Amino acid sequence: MPPEKKPSPETPPVSDQAKVKKITPPQLVRGMHDILPPEWPWWSFVMEEVADLAQTYSFQRLETPSLEKTNLFTRAIGASTDVVEKEMYSFVDQSADHLSLRPEYTAGIARAFIEHGMHTWPQPVKLFSLGSLWRHERPQAGRYRQFWQFDFEILGESSATADCQLILVAAALFESLHLPVTVQINSVGCPVCRPAYKQALQDYYRTKRSVLCEDCKRRLTKNPLRLLDCKEEADRELALQAPQLVDFLCEQCKEHFVRLLEYLDEVELAYQLNPYLVRGLDYYTRTVFEVWGADEGKSALAAGGRYDNLIAELGGQNTPAVGFAGGIERVVAELKTRQVGIPLPPAPDIFLACLGEMARKKAIRLFEDLRRQGIKVAESFTKDGLKNQLEIANRLKVKFTLVIGQKELSDGTIIVRDMENGIQEIVDSNKVIEEIQKRLASREPDTLA
Ligand code: HAM
Repeated sequence: MPPEKKPSPETPPVSDQAKVKKITPPQLVRGMHDILPPEWPWWSFVMEEVADLAQTYSFQRLETPSLEKTNLFTRAIGASTDVVEKEMYSFVDQSADHLSLRPEYTAGIARAFIEHGMHTWPQPVKLFSLGSLWRHERPQAGRYRQFWQFDFEILGESSATADCQLILVAAALFESLHLPVTVQINSVGCPVCRPAYKQALQDYYRTKRSVLCEDCKRRLTKNPLRLLDCKEEADRELALQAPQLVDFLCEQCKEHFVRLLEYLDEVELAYQLNPYLVRGLDYYTRTVFEVWGADEGKSALAAGGRYDNLIAELGGQNTPAVGFAGGIERVVAELKTRQVGIPLPPAPDIFLACLGEMARKKAIRLFEDLRRQGIKVAESFTKDGLKNQLEIANRLKVKFTLVIGQKELSDGTIIVRDMENGIQEIVDSNKVIEEIQKRLASREPDTLA
């Protein structure tokens, strides 16, 4: 073997090499974000409430892949929507398949519904999903290029009871998160009544074309409904005088909408009728709704609606459906804005401190025994010195610290220190688990931050 090459005295240590060679450290992709450990209590709070409600209202979990064929989204969401036209992360893979990262859940769920023959399952099929989505939007507050949604769908039910139940689920979620919100509702009609409305809208806007923003000029021919929810001030003013969709609804759509409002009144769920709510995805029919928080709809916390024709248009059986999705980043930001107290992550009950190598061995073993008994234990086996370890125990706010040193090892004992009053007791190491269980049973659990 050649002799190992020793680094010359001039070779800088590895940590300094980056500076010498000017190595650029890797950076996040624009619009993406890490969810760091301190964020997780908020995220877990939201995710656990979502899972709880899904169970209460009998929604079963479905997860579809992050990648789907690009034409699924083009067909489902609509070729001239912002999402499909500008925002999809699309590429051709090694097998020459045209794929896209999912920009939303509903299209993939509709695909899965058809592919797995869910029309033969007991109807309606109630599904929920929770995961990441990707849209190449302009990054700004509450708008990310990778974001998380919780998504609820009821497939195979045309009655307005399903719309009502979904709005109830959304309202119940925000209530359980202690967030005040308003529910905005509208009906966007169906392929029978919408063309006349689109025409009326185009007639109204045509004479005002020159003052419209560039996006709205395009929308005028491609997607006239979106003229109504343009965020530009001048265009918003124009929308106030525009014809309203409710005046154009066909009898069936009107009846469906009235029924929904009656149900919502019956359960005393407060809502606001919003004639400008049209949504940016083409599959919607009849009911559309959004849940607004403190910023009054600049970035909706959750949104959805009915999509009665999507599954048939994708080649499945005629399956009326309705659903909504909420953005977790936005909900977490809202919890912080409103300073909502969230449940603390489960704090350890016990800290295991040890002094010296032999004691450490004993402590590693005891950690496992305590854990098997369901006792939440923390440790810092790599730290030396009792002072250091007690500081960590204090920071973790544990109820008791167990100390094993040389003396305790030879005596077969363990010191139990009550962290509230500093009182220490020497306990037989064979009985320490029993002792701890007894003492913990007499303490109240912590709840809110
Ligand atoms: P959406 O309105 O596009 O609807 O998105 C639903 C929610 O996802 C929004 O209200 C927002 O909270 C969140 N969201 C959307 N884009 C972003 C982003 N770039 N950054 C952070 N959060 C975002 C849909 O996705 C439909 N699939 C909902 C649905 C389900 N309709 C029927 N079923």
